[in-house]
Amino acid sequence: TSKQRLLVVANRLPVSAVRHGEDSWQLEMSVGGLVTALLGVKEFDTRWIGWAGVNVPDEIGQKALAKALDEKRCIPVFLDEEVVHQYYNGYCNNILWPLFHYIGLPQEDHLATTRSFQSQFDAYKKANQLFADVVNEHYEEGDVVWCHDYHLMFLPKCLKERNSKMKVGWFLHTPFPSSEIHRMLPSRLELLRSVLAADLVGFHTYDYARHFVSACTRILELEGTPEGVEDQGKLTRIAAFPVGIDSERFIKALELPDVQYHMKVLKQRFAGRKVMLGVDRLDMIKGIPQKLLAFEKFLEENPNWRNKVVLLQIAVPTRTDVPEYQKLTSQVHEIVGRINGRFGSLTAVPIHHLDRSLDFHELCALYAVTDVALVTSLRDGMNLVSYEYVACQESKKGVLILSEFAGAAQSLGAGAILVNPWNVTEVASSIGYALNMPADEREKRHHHNFKHVISHTAQEWAATFVRCELNVTIVEAQLR
Ligand code: UDP
Ligand code: G6P
Repeated sequence: TSKQRLLVVANRLPVSAVRHGEDSWQLEMSVGGLVTALLGVKEFDTRWIGWAGVNVPDEIGQKALAKALDEKRCIPVFLDEEVVHQYYNGYCNNILWPLFHYIGLPQEDHLATTRSFQSQFDAYKKANQLFADVVNEHYEEGDVVWCHDYHLMFLPKCLKERNSKMKVGWFLHTPFPSSEIHRMLPSRLELLRSVLAADLVGFHTYDYARHFVSACTRILELEGTPEGVEDQGKLTRIAAFPVGIDSERFIKALELPDVQYHMKVLKQRFAGRKVMLGVDRLDMIKGIPQKLLAFEKFLEENPNWRNKVVLLQIAVPTRTDVPEYQKLTSQVHEIVGRINGRFGSLTAVPIHHLDRSLDFHELCALYAVTDVALVTSLRDGMNLVSYEYVACQESKKGVLILSEFAGAAQSLGAGAILVNPWNVTEVASSIGYALNMPADEREKRHHHNFKHVISHTAQEWAATFVRCELNVTIVEAQLR
């Protein structure tokens, strides 16, 4: 039997392209939870349609890139610079992203944003149509189409308008905010209506799904049913599908000689000190400044810990053309500098801050050797870093400090220490609690979370979603 064909459509491809010559491209792994989750999907015959992260104005370059991507079963959508500016930097990352994470619409430069809103939304729709064109070009009857994330809320409608029989699912990797927040969006109606064109709509948590349903009932005045939302007899099913990771990939990696080597080097490097770990894209939703301030407060109040603990913060640069992200970078650097100046010595500093990504082996080694992971997201759809940390801690049984505003708090809450990242006092005392936690408590908490992480995988997440999406076909076929 052949595998079910699956067309994954996401703004970000699993690899991003770097140009080396007229027709030569290098492909690098992309960073982010969406890519990690979808790379864990194995039981389908999958093709991935998305943007390669570069502007390719010439035909020679486009052809060469399409060929290089084809080997990875990826299909590029080419977006020109102006569209990327208005759609990706503008509408997606300056408007939808902050709004969905309760940061609100941009305050500073508020009038400029208000003025450019319409042109950015037009570019968003245009970009979504370009994605739809590529999907239509590659679609074969019987394919399942799965659209991802806030970049592509307009896509279900574009696809269904052209082919009402196409099976279309849409999944959101971010929170869906309360309808009171969604109401602020000038394009609130169009976005909801377009998503509802899909057959199945999925979220990480039940809360996000409920928020979406109430946005539809309050803003569109539609009827909510236990299965979803109904519009003139047409039902769009809505449900929670919490994502996971390919836990085996991490657990197995720890046995590799390269990872073992990195672990050894790290252990020597930090011998005699406890190591706390932060791994985030350098994004305002991750609460990095809040995390640093909490760590500073901990050092302030616990002089005996000052040369016995270090915070390793990996901050992966992201969306660097968006002004808010540039501001955040300098803010974080300033705080790190101040704290290191204040508590550092001639031979050691309390914070190691890296503005770069790590390769998979280095990352696994870090997850495995560190004593505490600190996840302080102000809002986060799920947060897979917390899952990955747990997966790599079978021998050390380190402590996870986790923001209650991450989707993962609903699944790893029992084993983690949950904190409100805005409460610096609480986070500081949780750091103390984690560092001093006795082995039996660490073991118990870790075990709880480990069980969850290995039994709720990315494979299962995708299979459940696609099965649910296909179910529609079976029911409809029976009716016909
Ligand atoms: N990650 C990575 N390289 C790095 C740091 C992080 O590939 O140097 C990955 C990490 O393993 C995780 C993802 O980036 O899978 C981050 O996902 P998460 O859900 O925590 O947050 P997001 O970035 O999607 O907001
Ligand atoms: C989050 C979003 C993803 C996105 C990732 C990285 O996880 O939900 O859609 O791919 O961040 O951001 P980027 O803008 O680089 O794709």
